Amino acid sequence: MNQPLMAGVHVNAPTFVKNARLIAWVAEIAALTQPAAIYWCDGSIEEYDRLCQQLVDAGTFKKLDPVKRPNSYLAWSDPSDVARVEDRTYICSAAKEDAGPTNNWMAPAEMRTLLQTGDTPLFKGSMQGRTMYVVPFSMGPLGSPIAHIGIELSDSPYVAVNMRIMTRMGKAVYDVLGTDGDFVPCVHTVGAPLEAGQADVRWPCNKTKYIVHYPETREIWSYGSGYGGNALLGKKCFALRIASTMGRDQGWLAEHMLILGVTSPEGKKRHVAAAFPSACGKTNFAMLIPPAALGDWQVTTIGDDIAWIKPVDGQLRAINPEAGYFGVAPGTNFKTNPNCMASLDKDVIFTNVALTDDGDVWWEGMTDELPSHLIDWQGKDWTPETARGADGKLRPAAHPNARFTVAAGNNPALDPEWDNPAGVAIDAFIFGGRRSTTVPLATEARNWVEGVYMAATMGSETTAAAAGQMGIVRRDPFAMLPFMGYNMSDYFQHWLDVGAKLEAAGGKLPAIYCVNWFRKGADGKFVWPGYGENARVMQWMLGRIEGKAGGAENLFGVSPNYGDLNWAGLDFSEAQFQSVIGIDRDAWVQEMKLHGELFEQLAYHLPAELTATKAAIEAKLNG
Ligand code: GTP
Ligand code: SPV
Ligand code: MN
Repeated sequence: MNQPLMAGVHVNAPTFVKNARLIAWVAEIAALTQPAAIYWCDGSIEEYDRLCQQLVDAGTFKKLDPVKRPNSYLAWSDPSDVARVEDRTYICSAAKEDAGPTNNWMAPAEMRTLLQTGDTPLFKGSMQGRTMYVVPFSMGPLGSPIAHIGIELSDSPYVAVNMRIMTRMGKAVYDVLGTDGDFVPCVHTVGAPLEAGQADVRWPCNKTKYIVHYPETREIWSYGSGYGGNALLGKKCFALRIASTMGRDQGWLAEHMLILGVTSPEGKKRHVAAAFPSACGKTNFAMLIPPAALGDWQVTTIGDDIAWIKPVDGQLRAINPEAGYFGVAPGTNFKTNPNCMASLDKDVIFTNVALTDDGDVWWEGMTDELPSHLIDWQGKDWTPETARGADGKLRPAAHPNARFTVAAGNNPALDPEWDNPAGVAIDAFIFGGRRSTTVPLATEARNWVEGVYMAATMGSETTAAAAGQMGIVRRDPFAMLPFMGYNMSDYFQHWLDVGAKLEAAGGKLPAIYCVNWFRKGADGKFVWPGYGENARVMQWMLGRIEGKAGGAENLFGVSPNYGDLNWAGLDFSEAQFQSVIGIDRDAWVQEMKLHGELFEQLAYHLPAELTATKAAIEAKLNG
């Protein structure tokens, strides 16, 4: 059992696996990584329960109280492995220009030497003493023409059970794959081989990390991390980085966007896709409950993180390629996101939240009152008294990037069309960063190019979703900075082309908006109440689409006047509104300098339309 598998060794593929290329590839990776065993996942509930129990036995999972949180588990990761590692993420295209200036790049041959083929490549023997799980998954409804299949080979059972929630994972994928179907090969190792007799740790990982994509051969290789987007390779690596390059080649878009349905009191249903950077409110917006005072508006969730969008018969139709949510826990509560809290009632894997004394979970912002005692995400005792540092600040009990993994089916607001292979027709795109100053609450682009400019120049303060310093404003074009699989300027051009083509074919382009929920007042607090109240802004946008809502031209688009928003049931003064909608000239002179710096960085292949749009805004600013 603990003998390393050798090259050419039988990989014991079950009879339902009939794809020769797949079997050969599994053998090849097993020969390289030398796992002690290979396990072919079938995706059954028995298998899920068994692997979860195995994780409990290994100390990785704690089973939560079966009454308070049925069928749910808590994992605490290694403190060095808590978020995506953007500085260790590579796009290894043949030409450096194809990765572009916003991505880390290494020549494919050089990277392969390092990972696979050199004298001591990182993946050689990296799975020793562990089981290699073969995880078959479909991004998008199984068998639908827009779905794509991936196979992840991982030595992490945590990854296998998370993939079962996040994707359509299991045996049926092999039926779709058949004898010669295509799949994206995804290799993942935590990079912590075990010698014979060596005891395992709770969260194996390696301080060296590589998250590597080969866009031309559509391969993903991930080394050293077991966390989130680093390890669940169907998500950012496949559905965004690899899929964006597929979209470029095939004329569609892979976006970091939520998708929602919104039905008006009159019964008219529209669909909105919104791109906000990591930990900037997609999950919240996708599950939003509009204030009752606005009338009977209904919001339903199609997706909370990723959209694949294809032009079909003059429309842009979007699907959510995922099957679950890997969402930010801190800040989520019954007031800010009741649908999300309801989704988390049962069948959840929590990672890096705190454990309560009664076997349940807690995180910052979940309750107004602090629990009197917790075990924090690092396994340490936590009380409001002892967790207070010398600076008077409380040490967080949950890691700021603590997450939950839960199936879409748990969401009470799930849209009935959520897994319709035909997708939904998008009526509006929203782009929004986290900006404590400068950017107004809401602005409508007057045309497609202006909208693409807004998205391309979007800035946002960094969050705990990625390793590194928090709260720094950086440009995050289309909320895709960490997820672009090719050259950012070519991607801008692709957006312009998709729009132009649709228009030329007589189609209707979605409206484009830019929003900012995060302006702060002199007291350092958010001025806009946000969350469910964001429905007021959405109501204005839908009114604009119907030609029924007013607005005023500002520097770069059309923003609502105070009287253009529905204030029923909310006490928000005109002065407060001014402080979230106003355009400060000096701030915008500064902002345009930052757009200029971005455009300098992206000069290669930067579309002329965007430079022209910038010049027009500057002329207005100086006029
Ligand atoms: P990823 O999963 O990382 O891609 O992010 P996401 O965009 O889905 O993030 P999520 O919705 O989980 O956002 C999490 C953070 O945004 C939490 O700290 C929330 O409290 C905060 N947030 C969400 N909506 C609002 C809002 O309308 N106003 C304010 N002030 N904060 C918000
Ligand atoms: C993000 O960071 O945008 C996420 C979480 O959605 S992760 O899957 O870890 O990338
Ligand atoms: Mn995301």
